Amino acid sequence: MIQKIFCVVCFSLGIAGHYGQEIPEQKELKSDVITIYDQDLLTASFHSERRQELRKRMAPNSVAIFLANPIRNRSNDINFEYHQDPNFYYFTGLNEPHALIMIFKSPTKIDDEVVDEVVFMQEKDPETEVWDGKRYGTSGAQMILGLDMAKENQTFHKTKIDLNDFNVVYAGKIHKDIRDVPFKNGDLYDLSAKLMVKLDKVKGKQRNNELTMWCAELREKKTKEEMVLLEKAISITCDAQKEIMRALNPEMKEYQAEALVEFVFKNSGAEYPGFPSILGSGENSCILHYTSSRKPMMKNDLLVCDIGAEYHGYTADVTRTLPASGKFSYEQETIYKIVLEAQQAGIDACLDGNNFWDPNIAATTVLSQRMKELGIIKNSSELRRYFMHGTSHYLGLDVHDVGRYGKLEDKQVITVEPGIYIPAGSPCDRKWWNIGVRIEDDILITPGKPVNLSECAPRTVEDIEALMLEKSKFNN
Ligand code: GLY
Ligand code: MN
Repeated sequence: MIQKIFCVVCFSLGIAGHYGQEIPEQKELKSDVITIYDQDLLTASFHSERRQELRKRMAPNSVAIFLANPIRNRSNDINFEYHQDPNFYYFTGLNEPHALIMIFKSPTKIDDEVVDEVVFMQEKDPETEVWDGKRYGTSGAQMILGLDMAKENQTFHKTKIDLNDFNVVYAGKIHKDIRDVPFKNGDLYDLSAKLMVKLDKVKGKQRNNELTMWCAELREKKTKEEMVLLEKAISITCDAQKEIMRALNPEMKEYQAEALVEFVFKNSGAEYPGFPSILGSGENSCILHYTSSRKPMMKNDLLVCDIGAEYHGYTADVTRTLPASGKFSYEQETIYKIVLEAQQAGIDACLDGNNFWDPNIAATTVLSQRMKELGIIKNSSELRRYFMHGTSHYLGLDVHDVGRYGKLEDKQVITVEPGIYIPAGSPCDRKWWNIGVRIEDDILITPGKPVNLSECAPRTVEDIEALMLEKSKFNN
């Protein structure tokens, strides 16, 4: 019977070889649930192992509860494209709203069945699916995602789960600004409201900070499966960086550079940018999170291109700074080279056992010294005027991923991204004005030397200028 179910599922869903875990006999359920088009999603066994790792950390007789992300409204009756909460995704693989999971430390009786976890979620509903797309439904969640028990979210209020039966309750984030979907019982608004009533009764048993810390601890170290997806996101992002290097010319508008980058992302299979693409030229190169992209480029402009494809949940984050003309001016090259030197010092400090902040110290030490030599600052305390952000963040399911900000350890991935930004009007020689430079790479910590996962995008002045001489397939 196991064999038969396995074949039916794999045949009808086109996922042979991917969800190869054994499916217990009682889980024979209808197989026409949903078609999975991507063959390289995280596997059900990945999510199951992550839940297992969480259980190892949980206290005896405890439960951990996570809610799906809310749907966010853009305007009137149009919503933003849905994005799952990264913790919820990490532990379930479910990319749908209006859901809640309870992960039990030990098997727990729910409705006369003893289960490791229960998810409350949207049931299949052909009428709504015509509008919003196919859903897993409870049967799909069990068969495909391997969740032990899946129940329709409307049943949450009547399912007998008394949180008082547990010694410890861990609850993930509950959003306080969720829209109620009218006439829809069991939406996230209802799930959250009902959960809060339950949680209110066990205030003394809650240890939510520990859950936050464990999520950071687990997610900051990437498994092999996660690395495949993250490296794919980074590789797509490097391709976009290389293409913009070939295509860039002073006749372009910032939005055309953005269009090209995001074409490469989507054309390579990335679902979306992992954050709003930053393509700031000239004065906008000094705006850290510039997103409007309306300015025409000028031949003396630098373009800060800070971009990251998101592939199956994992986000790259790579920045290159390019001369619109194809050639850095003397002043641009001077600033570029000190940022590059600082970045290399930061990367070299990405060693197993070092403190998370060591790359920042290494990079700022170089920047302070060189900026003083150029006469742009007089003492190190002035550097903050021109370098006002951190050097590193973790990378993963979030672009600014969770982590403990403690020691650097094998299998963590962090960015190293120093910059110098000198807006017009700064108290220095005006020849430096409107020069903004950021260089960012994605670094894997290993027991040995750090690995630059984004080195496929040229980084030195010479390599950038050489690639900019090549023709792009996007130019006529
Ligand atoms: N890539 C944008 C940031 O790291 O803030
Ligand atoms: Mn970054």
